[in-house]
Amino acid sequence: MPDDSGQNKEQKNKDFGVGIPVATRGFFLKGASHLDWGMKNRLSKIFNPATGKALMLAFDHGYIMGPTSGIERMDLSIPPLMPHVDCLMCTRGALRSCVPPETDKPTVLRCSTGATIFRDLSNEVIGVAIEDAISLNAAAITTQVCIGAEYEKATLANLSQLINEGYKYGIPTLGVTAVGKEMARDARYLGLACRVIAELGAHFVKTYYCEPGFDEVVAGCPVPVVIAGGKKLPEAEALEMAYKAIDQGAVGVDMGRNIFNAENPVAMVQAVRKVVHEGEKPGKAYDFYRTLMAGAK
Ligand code: 5RP
Repeated sequence: MPDDSGQNKEQKNKDFGVGIPVATRGFFLKGASHLDWGMKNRLSKIFNPATGKALMLAFDHGYIMGPTSGIERMDLSIPPLMPHVDCLMCTRGALRSCVPPETDKPTVLRCSTGATIFRDLSNEVIGVAIEDAISLNAAAITTQVCIGAEYEKATLANLSQLINEGYKYGIPTLGVTAVGKEMARDARYLGLACRVIAELGAHFVKTYYCEPGFDEVVAGCPVPVVIAGGKKLPEAEALEMAYKAIDQGAVGVDMGRNIFNAENPVAMVQAVRKVVHEGEKPGKAYDFYRTLMAGAK
C-alpha cells in the first residue's frame, strides 16, 4: 500500500491549475505572431508593448555623409536625447565610440557599407559580421534597399543576407527603403518597396511618409512600418508629418535630422515622443515643444 507521507503529501500541496486552460497569446506587432521568442523579445525592446509604438533616434548619417550637421560630435549631441527615445539606430563605430555602454536603450545596428555621397549610394555590401552585431547586443540589424537603382539586386541580396544571419540568432532585421534623387516618393513606389522588403522576410520596415496614399502603403505591408524624418523641416511641420504617419498606421518614427537639427533637440525629441506614444495632435505637440523651449531659456 502506498505510503501517504513525504512525497505524496508534498504533491497534494502543489497547485497545477488543473482546469485553467493555458492562454494562447497573440503578439502586439503586425506580422510577428509566429516569430520565435528571441525575435519577439528583441522587438519588444524596440517597440513599447504598452503603446505598440517606437520612437527611434537615427544617427547613422555619418556612414555616407561624414560629420553631418547636428551630429559632428555624437558624444555630445546624442546622450542628452537618449532618455527620451525607445531605441538608437546607428553604426557600430558610433556605438563603440560615442554611446555610453551603461545605456539600457536597444540598438538597431546599421550593417551596410560601400558607398558615400561621392558615389552611387546603392552600391553597398554588408560590412558587419553577425557575430559583431551579437557582441554589441544589437536588438535588430539593418540595411537599405534601393528599388529601381543600378545596384537594386545587390541591396536586395544584402537584406536577404541579414535576414538569414539574424534568424540563426533571433535578431530581427529592419529593411529601409532608400530613395534615389531620381525616384518619386509616392505611394506607388514606396508601397512597392515596403512590400518587397516584407516579402523578403524583414521584420519591420522604414520608409518615408507620403501623401496621398500613406495609409495604403502601410496596409499593403504585412509587417510594422516606421517613418524616417527626411530632410529638416520647421518643427511644427515635422510634428505634423509624424502625427499623420501614426494616424495612418505607422507604428513609429526613426527620426534623425528633424530631431538633432531642431532649434532645441531635447525639447523636440519630447514633443515627437508625445505624438508617437500619446497620439498628441501636432498643434498641441508644437505648443509643448515651445513650452519646453521657454523653460530651458
Ligand atoms: C537612411 C537612413 C537614415 O537613418 C535616415 O534616413 C536618417 O533619418 P532622417 O532622414 O530622419 O534624418 O536610414 O537610409
